[in-house]
Amino acid sequence: MAAILVLFVMTFAVVLGPAAADPDLLQDVCVADLTSGVKVNGFTCKAIANISAADFSFNGLAKPGLTNNTFGSLVTAANVEKIPGLNTLGVSLSRIDYAPGGLNPPHTHPRATEMVFVLEGELDVGFITTANVLISKSIKKGEIFVFPKGLVHFQKNNGKVPAAVISAFNSQLPGTQSIATTLFAATPPVPDHVLTKAFQVGTKEVEKIKSRFAPKKK
Ligand SMILES: *[C@@H]1O[C@H](CO)[C@@H](O)[C@H](O)[C@H]1NC(C)=O
Ligand SMILES: *[C@@H]1O[C@H](CO)[C@@H](O)[C@H](O)[C@H]1NC(C)=O
Repeated sequence: MAAILVLFVMTFAVVLGPAAADPDLLQDVCVADLTSGVKVNGFTCKAIANISAADFSFNGLAKPGLTNNTFGSLVTAANVEKIPGLNTLGVSLSRIDYAPGGLNPPHTHPRATEMVFVLEGELDVGFITTANVLISKSIKKGEIFVFPKGLVHFQKNNGKVPAAVISAFNSQLPGTQSIATTLFAATPPVPDHVLTKAFQVGTKEVEKIKSRFAPKKK
């Protein structure tokens, strides 16, 4: 009986294991048809006759992004929405630029682990485990840091010069939930009574934060 239970648990683990990342592809390529109205898990494939090298290339990370915004940082994504050829391949990149003092505020990627490689400058980075332990470090040019899938993390440029990283993800579309924006700028809004109780503050404080994060279209 015990042996059967062990076998059952192992089978379950093996079946679930590969599903922990983007599903594997079942053909050479499946270049995303971003215009298709057909909804599947990912994007439908363009006809092979209609694909070209352009579907597999992107020059949008070549130049630094503009960091003259509230947080002093900018994420430029190179995911399946920019590179249709990434559809079903389970990987993508971003470039993140940081002004001096710039912050990429606490956020999570529900579908991917992230590795950052520092191109320029220095960053203070960290993630928080589900046991609420902060794992943090200062990293500089040429160094790498890993943010495990789903965990809240951030990067801050405490240096006097701009910084930049390339981030790699094990998902064609990692998704991002920025904690403050998610809670204080959702549409329709998360009710004040939820936030006052969750953060143990008054309605005034909640309204103040909400006003700073007024929803804006990207
Ligand atoms: C290839 O693209 C052309 C132009 O967009 C379109 O008219 C045609 O239907 C496509 N071919 C296939 C097989 O999807
Ligand atoms: C940021 O800088 C660019 C280029 O200098 C400028 O066009 C843009 O308006 C600036 N944005 C803000 C929010 O100041």
